[in-house]
Amino acid sequence: MDSRDVTSDRFQPEITVAAPGRINLIGEHTDYNMGFVFPAAIDRRIEFRMRKNGSEYDCQVYSVEFDKLLSFKLSEVRPSQEEWENYILGVVHEIQKLGHTLHGFDCQLSSNLPIGAGVSSSAAMECGLAFALNSLFNLGLSKMEIILLSQRAEHNFVGTKCGIMDQYASVMGQPNQAILLDCRNITHEMIPLNLEHHSLLLLNTNVSHSLASSEYNLRRSECEQGVEILSKAGMKVESLRDVSEEDLVAHQNILPPVILKRCLYVIRENQRVLLAAKALKGESLEHFGELMYQSHEGLQLEYEVSCKELDFLVDFSRKTPHVLGARMMGGGFGGCTINLVHQESKNRFVDEIKKAYTQEFDLELDPIWVHPSQGTSVIS
Ligand code: GLA
Repeated sequence: MDSRDVTSDRFQPEITVAAPGRINLIGEHTDYNMGFVFPAAIDRRIEFRMRKNGSEYDCQVYSVEFDKLLSFKLSEVRPSQEEWENYILGVVHEIQKLGHTLHGFDCQLSSNLPIGAGVSSSAAMECGLAFALNSLFNLGLSKMEIILLSQRAEHNFVGTKCGIMDQYASVMGQPNQAILLDCRNITHEMIPLNLEHHSLLLLNTNVSHSLASSEYNLRRSECEQGVEILSKAGMKVESLRDVSEEDLVAHQNILPPVILKRCLYVIRENQRVLLAAKALKGESLEHFGELMYQSHEGLQLEYEVSCKELDFLVDFSRKTPHVLGARMMGGGFGGCTINLVHQESKNRFVDEIKKAYTQEFDLELDPIWVHPSQGTSVIS
């Protein structure tokens, strides 16, 4: 019965769902501060091939790339020691918590999304599975419910207190559009991505420093401390979104220096996102690129989530006239930079930067050209 064997290449699904990773043009670490972000879904994705298996509780999820099989019972869903399993178990748990009944299913996963590269393979896992279970069992979940339950899965089972950007982009993405998302109201504006003669290039450092998750949660709490100090001082603030640079500077004496730096970064990054959207609409790619460089500088020096490999790549891009902008992307401490590169010199640029990176760090650098693409959807 090969066609029902989840580890077989002849496995026959009832439905196939594709969930993309995301890029973020600008607006890093602003989502959980109720600010603005500017992501897009990309043409790299995880495919979920799913079928009901007729049992009440038994589920199997098989990853083709890693040749790993997760078997579990719907009646006993709890966190696992294996990180990748928690994306699956967390989503199932959150769906059950909403009061929906699932039945046994088999799922085969395949992916061309790099892992640990800051392109949100985790959000793609969560959203794709939630979307597929929603379709397979007619749960009637809205896209917004899928986004929010996927985010809760990451908080509760994986342990990263992420914002909403990655899940939102993975579900809501549209071809050739970037999503200007206001994370306070959770509303968005789609902005056509007209890059003229430029392309978006990710450069994967192939490093993923282990600090990522703990430092991420620490940054989040530093921002919350900032808000708490300001509101104790009498300001009406619920998040850093309510604070202007002038307000912050006026209160600098009561803020510990590290907290001040973090808050300053967030407030400035929010302004950069809005300016970047304006620049794109006004077709000023040069200005857009300059804002990317400024964003990197803030992440490096004020928010302190970059690392030497990312800084090296951004410095190199800055010296190349055909690269309009570059910055680290995602949570930080490794992963990719995102670069806006003129098509004319794209091959030369990749050759040069790969060579320089390997010389400096004795590591491979992987270039990934990306295009804004369709969000999570049933493909067959
Ligand atoms: C990770 C999180 C997002 C966001 C980014 C930084 O990707 O999942 O919510 O905070 O980091 O911008």
